[in-house]
Amino acid sequence: MRKPKIKTELPGPKAAQLINYDGLYVSPSYTRGYPLVAESGKGMWITDPDGNVFMDFAAGIAVCSTGHCHPKVVKAIRRQASKLIHMSGTDFYYSAQSALAAKLVAVSPFSRPAKVYFSNSGAEAVEAAFKLARWRTKRPINIAFYGAFHGRTMGALSLTGSKEIQKRHYYPLVPHVIHAPYADCYRCHYNMKYPECDMECIRWIADELFHTIVPPEQVASIFVEPIQGEGGYIVPPVEFHKRLRELTQKYGILYVADEVQSGMGRTGEMFAMEIFDVEPDIITLAKGIASGMPLGAVIAPIDIMSWPPGSHASTFGGNPIACEASLATIDLLENGLIENAHCRGLQLRQGLIKLQDTCEWIGDVRGEGLMTAIEFVEGRESKKPFPEFRDKVVDDAFYEGLLLLGCGKSSIRFSPPLIVSKNDIDVCLNILDEILNAKN
Ligand SMILES: Cc1ncc(COP(=O)(O)O)c(C=O)c1O
Repeated sequence: MRKPKIKTELPGPKAAQLINYDGLYVSPSYTRGYPLVAESGKGMWITDPDGNVFMDFAAGIAVCSTGHCHPKVVKAIRRQASKLIHMSGTDFYYSAQSALAAKLVAVSPFSRPAKVYFSNSGAEAVEAAFKLARWRTKRPINIAFYGAFHGRTMGALSLTGSKEIQKRHYYPLVPHVIHAPYADCYRCHYNMKYPECDMECIRWIADELFHTIVPPEQVASIFVEPIQGEGGYIVPPVEFHKRLRELTQKYGILYVADEVQSGMGRTGEMFAMEIFDVEPDIITLAKGIASGMPLGAVIAPIDIMSWPPGSHASTFGGNPIACEASLATIDLLENGLIENAHCRGLQLRQGLIKLQDTCEWIGDVRGEGLMTAIEFVEGRESKKPFPEFRDKVVDDAFYEGLLLLGCGKSSIRFSPPLIVSKNDIDVCLNILDEILNAKN
């Protein structure tokens, strides 16, 4: 059973040198939690410049879906790089972009013909969807949710409802974005319990918001993460999305599913919306779409994506190398990795639920597929978030060679590459067990 191998103090001498050098030149706005320097990656494993080997359960923030440097992805990148690196798909044609658009439409959950807009990142995909919703409806208001993360460009940031530091000093943002409580049943905004609550969060939008400050006929879109990502890997009840969909249909509001983090197989389905059996109007994608090449996409039925030439575009969006990497990625997802995400996710959550028996600070275990999290609390009754404990566990895991990331106020997310094996999950659980029991 392969395990992490830490042979120097961390950071080691070469890593420490790089971190100091980086500090001289790289923007201090980045949020590096622990001092990992990644020199090379293969599958689940990251090697630092001092030869320490880490097991990666963060996957470059849920990006390296097929593992680091999957040979088939590397081959596709190499092949395309020797043929054509850039041409700009906004002004010219090349086969990689058309082929990927056709593939994304084919795997998408839309029941009618659709088209694809390409971007370079998640925020850019959200930005494009924001503009598309306004363009299509000619309406000024947009709704998003507390806890949502949609990116950091001005439009995407306006939809984001995550941390105040992300917004401090950046107002005025894009106007007419209203936030509503998400269906976070572990920490219900209304102090109610599902299903007795009868989806109070939806009722509030329908009966309060739409009758007081927001005329529903003026709402262009509701942006919603099928499962909230940065907000804490929060899985809402199926009914949440179903009732929200009904509401949007009633008023002609576009339902934008932000699948930047939950899409591309991570949840055990190609798109998380399939778990909820709800067909949205627009889907945004990025992160896992191209195994680490910068690419984002917006998919929408052709009656919605009907904007004319010049209304939106990007020089680099749909870069040929990124598109070929994405085609290779989707091929791997369809041939076993989505299924693996489902099975390994079950194994992981079973193991985490067992850990809950011996660690009183694990308040909640939740997720779908390999979009799984644990939330730490000071007490199971009070449910008081315990971020200091979470941060310490993430740090300790690093020193044991396990790469994790936090999310939400006091949760740890497990977002490994979808190639993760049964043994890898066992190794991760054993390391966590040791860390948590040492703290008990
Ligand atoms: C759901 C969601 N939307 C949008 C984004 C923004 O993506 P990017 O960081 O590529 O701009 C993220 C990033 O975490 C995300 O999780």
